[in-house]
Amino acid sequence: MSAFYREKVLSVRHWTDTLFSFRATRDSGFRFQNGQFAMIGLEVDGRPLLRAYSMASANHEEQLEFFSIKVADGPLTSKLQRIREGDTILVGRKATGTLVTDNLLPGSRLLLLSTGTGLAPFASLVKDPDVYERFDSIVLVHGCRQVSELAYGEELVARLRDDELFGPLLQEKLLYYPTVTREPFRNRGRITDLITSNQLFDDLHQPALDIGTDRIMMCGSPAMLEELKQLFEARGFEEGANHKPGHFVIEKAFVER
Ligand code: A2P
Repeated sequence: MSAFYREKVLSVRHWTDTLFSFRATRDSGFRFQNGQFAMIGLEVDGRPLLRAYSMASANHEEQLEFFSIKVADGPLTSKLQRIREGDTILVGRKATGTLVTDNLLPGSRLLLLSTGTGLAPFASLVKDPDVYERFDSIVLVHGCRQVSELAYGEELVARLRDDELFGPLLQEKLLYYPTVTREPFRNRGRITDLITSNQLFDDLHQPALDIGTDRIMMCGSPAMLEELKQLFEARGFEEGANHKPGHFVIEKAFVER
C-alpha cells in the first residue's frame, strides 16, 4: 500500500500574490482530528515532494482544503501554486499534530492565535461543533502584515455566520479579531503586544487573560510562537502535548522560505 492517497484538485483560489487555497477530493479512509496536519505535495520527476500542511477543512467535510503561501523559489510551493482543477496531489495517510482539543486542560475561553497561514488549523477547528461544546467562548485572532492577507479568514467567518448549523454557534461564542501590522486597519498591532497591553481583551469587551479559564492554541511564525510561549509561561501557563494536556499548545506554521 502506498504511503499516500492520490487526490484530485477540485478548485483553486488565489487570494493574494503570496497566498492561495485549494480543495481536493478526500479518500474515505483518510481520518484526522480537527487541527492536525498531514504531508501534502506533488509527484515531481517520479518522486514525492512533500511538506506538512494543516487541514483547513474539518473532519466532517467530504472534501479536503488547504491554505498555502507561495514562495517563488520554494521547492514545493513554486509548483503547487500552479495546480489546477483536475490535477493530482499526494496526501500522506497519517495525520498528526498537537493543536487538538484533547491536548488542552478543561477551560472556558479558547484563544486561537495565528499569523499568516497559521490560520489553517483554526479554520478546521472553528468548523468543529465539539469545540463549541467544550468552550463558552472562542477568540479567533489572525495577524497579518497587510489587510489583503486577511481575506481567507474574513470569508471563512462570514460563510460560517451564514451557515444554518454554525451561524447560531458563532453568534453565541465566536469572537473574530483580525489584526494588521503594516497598514491602516480597524485593529492594528502584533498579537504579542495586543495581549501584553490587554488591548485585545479591551477591544472585545472581554475579561483579561486568566489561567483559570483561558486555554490557548497558537500557530504562526516561529518568532511569534517563541515570544508568546515566554509570555504565557511567565504567567504560569504550561505547554501541553499529546497525552499530556496543558494550558496552551503550539504548532509552527509550515512555511517554506
Ligand atoms: P510585523 O509586520 O510587525 O513583522 P510574517 O509575514 O513575517 O510571517 O508575519 C506575519 C505577522 O506576524 C505580521 O503581522 C508580523 O508583524 C507578525 N509577527 C512577526 N514576528 C512576530 C513576533 N515575534 N511576535 C508577534 N508578531 C510577529
